[in-house]
Amino acid sequence: MIDQVVILLGPPGSGKGTQARRLSADLGVPHVATGEMFRSNVEDDTELGRRARGFMESGRLVPDELVTEMLFVRVAAEDCSCGYVLDGFPRTLGQAEALDRGIEGRWGASVASLEVPDAALVERASGRLLCRNDGNHIYHASFSPPASEGICDQCGGELYRREDDVPEVVAARLGVYREQTAPVLEHYAQAGHLLGVNGDQAPDEVYRTLRAALEGESRENSALEGSTTEGGE
Ligand code: AP5
Ligand code: MG
Repeated sequence: MIDQVVILLGPPGSGKGTQARRLSADLGVPHVATGEMFRSNVEDDTELGRRARGFMESGRLVPDELVTEMLFVRVAAEDCSCGYVLDGFPRTLGQAEALDRGIEGRWGASVASLEVPDAALVERASGRLLCRNDGNHIYHASFSPPASEGICDQCGGELYRREDDVPEVVAARLGVYREQTAPVLEHYAQAGHLLGVNGDQAPDEVYRTLRAALEGESRENSALEGSTTEGGE
């Protein structure tokens, strides 16, 4: 139970999915990944999937209104009533402001940004393998290979490569991140909320750094609340 929203930001391939999956399991709250939700809509050939597909294939962002509607329907579900871990949302200032309004007065947000150099991002995306049964089962051909080639260790599903992981689309996604998501980082930094996390370490180390940053922030907030209460007495 966390009663909080944790937001993981970071460029394509920075490890949001890898870290969010572990964090949500440890915190006992859902992992809400907008990219994964779109991929499953594309796979099922839904109306939403048909509308999102062209944007995703070319590395552009799906329009805000489609994303925010899908997101708010998802987080209104009962399993999100104690909080959730967001992966891949918000990615524009409009989405960040919609989220601020959506959680205002109910929850605080902890925002962590995974920082990884561009060269490592391209290498990570180009070797990524995902499970067809559960896209949050993530592998890498060199850095975290499955025990049996092409098969998910966790559920036996078939592993595949994402269509948007080819180098030219990764480059387009990086450009979009710098242009459209940088203002989101700025938005949270200005509010004093942004935790920078070195994502250029082994996954276990990244996780330790991330947990330490989140716990440090939560201790600071409790201390501040304590001093406010004491001051008011
Ligand atoms: P989305 O699926 O969110 O893609 P992304 O943000 O580009 O991020 P990725 O999923 O590529 O990377 P990741 O950070 O999750 O890294 P991962 O853990 O997999 O979005 C896809 C598309 O959907 C968008 O382009 C857009 O069109 C649309 N979309 C989604 N959300 C949207 C929104 N809010 N608004 C508008 N449009 C939206 O790791 C990558 C690889 O590296 C893996 O192989 C992994 O095993 C490996 N790895 C991870 N950590 C490490 C490490 N520490 N060391 C070595 N290897 C590592
Ligand atoms: Mg991801």
